[in-house]
Amino acid sequence: MFDSFQYFSSIEFVFGAGRAREATDRLSSRGLGRVLMVTDPGIVAAGIAEEVEDFLVEGGITVERFTDVKSNPTVENVDAGAAALTEFGATAVIGLGGGSPIDTAKIIAAAAANNCSAHDFMTGERSIDVAGVPQIAIPTTAGSGAESAKVSVLVDHATGEKKGVFGPGTAPWITILDPELMVGMPSWLTAATGMDALSHALEAYLGVAASPFSDAIAEKGMRLVADHLETAVFDGSDLEARSALTIASALGGLAKEQSGLGILHAVAMPVGYVYDLHHGYLCAALMPATLDFNRSAVLEKTAWVARTFGVDSADDETAAGLAGATVRALNERIGMGTRLREAGVRDADHSRIVDDAMKSYLLKNNPVPGTPEGCLAVLQASL
Ligand SMILES: [Fe+2]
Repeated sequence: MFDSFQYFSSIEFVFGAGRAREATDRLSSRGLGRVLMVTDPGIVAAGIAEEVEDFLVEGGITVERFTDVKSNPTVENVDAGAAALTEFGATAVIGLGGGSPIDTAKIIAAAAANNCSAHDFMTGERSIDVAGVPQIAIPTTAGSGAESAKVSVLVDHATGEKKGVFGPGTAPWITILDPELMVGMPSWLTAATGMDALSHALEAYLGVAASPFSDAIAEKGMRLVADHLETAVFDGSDLEARSALTIASALGGLAKEQSGLGILHAVAMPVGYVYDLHHGYLCAALMPATLDFNRSAVLEKTAWVARTFGVDSADDETAAGLAGATVRALNERIGMGTRLREAGVRDADHSRIVDDAMKSYLLKNNPVPGTPEGCLAVLQASL
């Protein structure tokens, strides 16, 4: 018996080594000659912003750079970007970087078009009624999945909230997946972002809202991570492995947009902002306990995950029982560490973390209903 579901994506995906250059022709052919390039200081320091800017300019595009983007993008970042877009008279936006610049770019276009602050979108005072100028997403890390989604997660200091906003026109017009832009990524970041990609596919796969469409997408994403993450971590110049992870990230993003996430991300969010720890690292650290916690409700799927990561057992109970330990061993091999206590997570903060995790709508999608005891169990088993 199949449950009802829907599948939607309006984004055109373009994949291939060196294909970021095609942004120039795509913009020119639509007469979009003035581009606000939203990126961050890290991408500038890595030389990638200049590389992309160079080929845009060679192709006759006028580019204005906007780099005021925090790793957790804020309402202020979006508003400053919207002002820059208007002042420059941009006819298109490029989001270049990891999830933060891409998420920021999506809402900059909308805020400028609707002539308001992103704060108004956060409070619901304004909805994103008018689609902004077209945007192109060019990811330079493989993990966040921001390149696949219309939603952006923003921090609003005025209300203390961190949540997702979306509306017409917030989805990228084109997402260009170019693995050549990833070859210089350090191995630790490759590992952390790769585990984030895996966590999106995994939680969408195990979640209540999983569908045959999202399962197909999630399974392919997880298999690509299983087959290529270690290679990319130990040899960043391996373009085949970089390609696989670039695709896995986009697939993880599609899977989570369609079918949501669960307890891993609900717990990872507060741990991330209490200790300022990298989101991908937290996804890696919380994944073994998440697999163990959910196992009884999704035994067959957990067994599939275990086998994909190397467990050799035809018996679902046996295979699923080894899933958490298998991912923990992977974490050790790729330098993710396996224990949150080593990253500074303290017992005294547990109740605060659990309280915040319980506010997450993601818990409704977890295969085992998310309770305070459950969140605490996942956290404590990851210490
Ligand atoms: Fe994530």
